[in-house]
Amino acid sequence: MASEKISRVGIIGAGQMGAGIAEVCARAGSDVLVYESTRELTAAGRARILRSLDRGVSSGKLTEREREQATWRLRFTSDLGDFADRQLVVEAIIEDEAVKTEIFAELDRVVTDPNAVLASNTSSIPIMKLGMATEKAERVIGMHFFNPVPVLPLVELVTTLMTSTEVSERAEAFAHDVLGKQVVRSADRSGFVVNALLVPYLLSAVRMVESGFATVEDIDKAMVLGCAHPMGPLKLTDLVGLDTVKAIADSMYEEFKEPLYSPPPLLLRMVEAGRLGKKSGRGFYQYGDVAAR
Ligand code: 3HC
Repeated sequence: MASEKISRVGIIGAGQMGAGIAEVCARAGSDVLVYESTRELTAAGRARILRSLDRGVSSGKLTEREREQATWRLRFTSDLGDFADRQLVVEAIIEDEAVKTEIFAELDRVVTDPNAVLASNTSSIPIMKLGMATEKAERVIGMHFFNPVPVLPLVELVTTLMTSTEVSERAEAFAHDVLGKQVVRSADRSGFVVNALLVPYLLSAVRMVESGFATVEDIDKAMVLGCAHPMGPLKLTDLVGLDTVKAIADSMYEEFKEPLYSPPPLLLRMVEAGRLGKKSGRGFYQYGDVAAR
């Protein structure tokens, strides 16, 4: 029996990426249930989505009515048990393998549809490790979105040796036909296509700062004006989050043992100091109040 079209979506985590994915799903007409562990994180996640919807309206991408409709389609919970009827779940929490495997084991017990898509937005953890935390690894897949999710049109789809064709086709149809994203497929290798290329570049820029090769501003200016990138590598590191860049680098280093993936000491010290980039108010640059982030 063919699987039903996906209309009930669950998102785990309402940080930068989870909030963005929840927003695009709600804007595309899905019923969206968002999980956060505490009341404070739920409130912060809801505020993040509302700010982005407002930004969509003020930049002319969304009408007031569409913003209202998207808001009505979003609900929040702190109980994973509420995800039983979901046809697609996208996990978008921190890059911590132990926490993610626990979530997948729990989702596997809770979600009833045998062809439900259990997706991770991980940037670099091999999807197979998450699949093997479940009894039905054929439902587990990578769906990797890009920040800011409402703006960037790509989803990397990562199937494992165990993912079923039905699940991967269902995930691709949702990303492409419902969300209007472009899909590329990647093998289940740490970093997938984009981060395997992007992260060594970001780490190289951090090493340049560390060695006094050039200033933060000049490195960024060079790549914006010299290569027409929308933002330079250090501003982009701030946008992605220094902790996230470190976590991706660690995963890729563990997988390939290549020095180019090894996070430089300056990045480690900044993460230890809580200078995580835009989300914490300070990274390579300083940011204003939360509403401006
Ligand atoms: N909803 C809908 N549209 C929105 C929006 C929202 N919430 N916010 C902004 N937009 C639209 C704007 O309307 C504008 O559209 P237009 O070009 O048609 O007018 C466009 O997005 C750009 O917005 P702004 O003009 O406000 O901002 P900038 O021009 O300064 O661009 C940026 C900001 C989009 C962040 C751009 O600098 C950029 O694309 N930077 C690169 C980001 C990038 O590389 N991300 C990937 C990171 S890697 C990753 O995520 C993977 C992870 O695993 C690490």
